[in-house]
Amino acid sequence: MSKLQGKVAVITGANSGIGLATAKLFLEEGAKVVLSGRRETALVKATKDLNGEFITVVADVAKESDNKKLIEETVNTYGKIDVLFLNAGIAPVAPTNEITAEHYNEVFDINVKGPILATKEAIPHINDGGSILFTNSIVHQKGFDGFGVYSASKGALRAYSRVLTSELKDRGIRVNSIAPGPIETPIYGKMNLPGEVVEEMGKSFAQTVPLGRFGKSEEIASTALFLASEDASFINGVELEVDGGLSQI
Ligand SMILES: NC(=O)c1ccc[n+]([C@@H]2O[C@H](COP(=O)([O-])OP(=O)(O)OC[C@H]3O[C@@H](n4cnc5c(N)ncnc54)[C@H](OP(=O)(O)O)[C@@H]3O)[C@@H](O)[C@H]2O)c1
Repeated sequence: MSKLQGKVAVITGANSGIGLATAKLFLEEGAKVVLSGRRETALVKATKDLNGEFITVVADVAKESDNKKLIEETVNTYGKIDVLFLNAGIAPVAPTNEITAEHYNEVFDINVKGPILATKEAIPHINDGGSILFTNSIVHQKGFDGFGVYSASKGALRAYSRVLTSELKDRGIRVNSIAPGPIETPIYGKMNLPGEVVEEMGKSFAQTVPLGRFGKSEEIASTALFLASEDASFINGVELEVDGGLSQI
């Protein structure tokens, strides 16, 4: 039996990496999926070979009007929402002496303001008993040099998710976060770092993971499926680390 048969799922950052892998899995599990991303060409390319019932919506999560548009188009097409997966995010590196207001604003606009405003727009349209998922990160649990603003943004999102868990208690809507460790996705090419530095950073991350490797997007997708489905019916308010044990040592 498919785990999300007939359910409507909205996924941000769905043109790439974790979001795309999750969209594929949710479609295989019978969901109707709204794939959202900010680059239209990437969305078109990413969805070319997908099977199942889905639409795409071009939306920049940092823009309030785009979050409204995303939810409006979802509701106009599918009526209600069962799963809201707020996954879009960026992780540019800047040690403290290089942090600028622009860097801070960009990271917080996309990683914190975006998911919060999208949630606000979506809440009236989420079925009671539905599920909200955030892609967080283990970064806010440890200290990784250069990831100060990124770590702070994910810590802020974690704090927000606790409040949301309580605010939605009367409607049976579960709120959970996934905290990936290092996962092999295109995000490492978008960090404003030279290729060789990214490669070195990758090697050192992999060495520190108890399981000795990067994770795969599909391993986060299967976690998202678990948390979104009835299999996790009594799991609420948690942040689930999917990191090969990195956060625990
Ligand atoms: N990979 C890891 O090691 C790792 C670890 C911990 C947490 N995470 C988190 O996992 C999430 C997904 O990242 P990923 O690793 O799958 O990387 P990715 O392949 O780069 O995916 C990130 C997605 O977010 C989208 N996005 C970025 N800014 C956006 C905006 N303003 N509006 C709409 N969409 C936007 C990207 O679109 P564009 O391609 O158009 O920018 C892309 O689709 C992020 O929240 C990230 O912080 C990743």
